[in-house]
Amino acid sequence: MVLMIICVCNRINCRSVREAVDSGARSPKAVQAHHGCKINCGKCTTTIGEMIAEQMDRAVPQMQVLAAE
Ligand code: FES
Repeated sequence: MVLMIICVCNRINCRSVREAVDSGARSPKAVQAHHGCKINCGKCTTTIGEMIAEQMDRAVPQMQVLAAE
């Protein structure tokens, strides 16, 4: 499995971002904090924000199924 580095400053990869979102992180700052880091240059914040939105979009249909049951 190829892991893409999302945050070069703090060496946070795509799997690490998803893990943080699964644990409740809902902002780039929260993703960084989940891994004990702080935003440095900020170049990753747009990508992390997009990844959070994508992951939340995927979670909504599952929640709707649960609500319908
Ligand atoms: S690339 Fe994430 S803080 Fe610099």
